[in-house]
Amino acid sequence: MSILITNIKELLQVYNSNVTILKGKEMNNLPVLKDAYLYLENDTIVEYGPMSDCDGIEAETTIDASGRVVLPAWCDSHTHLVYPEDRAGEFIDRINGLTYEEIAKKGGGILNSAKKLQEKSEEQLYNQALERLNKLLKLGTGVIEIKSGYGLTVESELKMLRVIQRLKKETQAFVKVTFLGAHAIPEKFKKNKKGYIDMIIKEMLPKIYEENLAHYIDVFCEEGYFTLEDTELILKAAQKYNLPAKIHVNQFNAFGGVELAVKYKALSVDHLEELTSDDIDALKKSNTMPVALPQCSFFLGIPYTNARAILDAGLPLAIASDYNPGSAPSGNMNFVLSLACIKLKMTPEEAINAATINGAYALGLSSMYGSITRGKKANIIITKPISGYQLLPYSFGENLIDTVIVNGIIH
Ligand code: NIG
Ligand code: FE
Repeated sequence: MSILITNIKELLQVYNSNVTILKGKEMNNLPVLKDAYLYLENDTIVEYGPMSDCDGIEAETTIDASGRVVLPAWCDSHTHLVYPEDRAGEFIDRINGLTYEEIAKKGGGILNSAKKLQEKSEEQLYNQALERLNKLLKLGTGVIEIKSGYGLTVESELKMLRVIQRLKKETQAFVKVTFLGAHAIPEKFKKNKKGYIDMIIKEMLPKIYEENLAHYIDVFCEEGYFTLEDTELILKAAQKYNLPAKIHVNQFNAFGGVELAVKYKALSVDHLEELTSDDIDALKKSNTMPVALPQCSFFLGIPYTNARAILDAGLPLAIASDYNPGSAPSGNMNFVLSLACIKLKMTPEEAINAATINGAYALGLSSMYGSITRGKKANIIITKPISGYQLLPYSFGENLIDTVIVNGIIH
């Protein structure tokens, strides 16, 4: 199967060499080829260039992209896409004045989702998640990370991971799987957190390893959830099973989680709504990708990640949706892009880089995804006719995505 896209108004993210991460000032640079073509074969980007060089190239399918922008599909490096049902009731509670923490203390929040998930079959969870994922594909997401963490028992965590593995096998999106057993302390272990951590380390991790169910480990390192000591125990255990870390840190409180993550060579540290100068210093000495999740700040009304401080320190930054029923009930990366510009004060160039190449880096995939480079995977967005790529973040709430090619297949 070959696809030729012609008359592209702006082809973004064109890199002849295989760039895998962009940091600080580099993020403000977005290479654009005007009046271009792009040629794909099966699941691979084979060639691109100015339209004047397109003569003689033939393909089974030709798409005329006159007036349109073409760019790599979004790489969403942080989601909780598999969940049992919405939590609109808690949304109303928050409108009426309760905070996310207060709702969690009453047994709502993650524990609410866990109780419901335990009652659902693998089949039900799979079908719901597939429907969500198919919607996201049409909105331009080609690579996605999905976490467990609403199981909180051996059986249900494995059930979630199997659902995610099935999504990985049966959809065109490239899926990375993260084990988040340490998402909350289950009711049963309320007075025995050590017992639950033991269960994660001694029962869940060996089974996950045996069945090869996860690529990464995550911990919700936060007051009322998992302390630095708890997090370190879990990260140490995960090292034995070769599961690199991607950690929830600094969502509500900053108390050294970033430094700990860096010590364990985490691939990413996610949230960072709270951020100290020590955190920035720790990141400077690391290869860890900071990830901002602006939809969570938007939805919960908590501070936004200080993206300018991160970028001005010369660090890289990725943005992701955090799609989950409690703090960000949407996986629309186009809205994430708008929030990055409007609320995090990122330029459109920085935001697009953060949602593509750096998102791919946060999943260990940036040599295969995240830019228009020969040999990279054919994951491509074609927009509707627009005046220029700035319209993507500018026109918040509007769907400017026309066609999405994922793994070489047109959606
Ligand atoms: O990233 N903070 C922890 N986990 C999710 C929220 C999960 C939930 O509320 O269900 C987050 O915001
Ligand atoms: Fe999250």
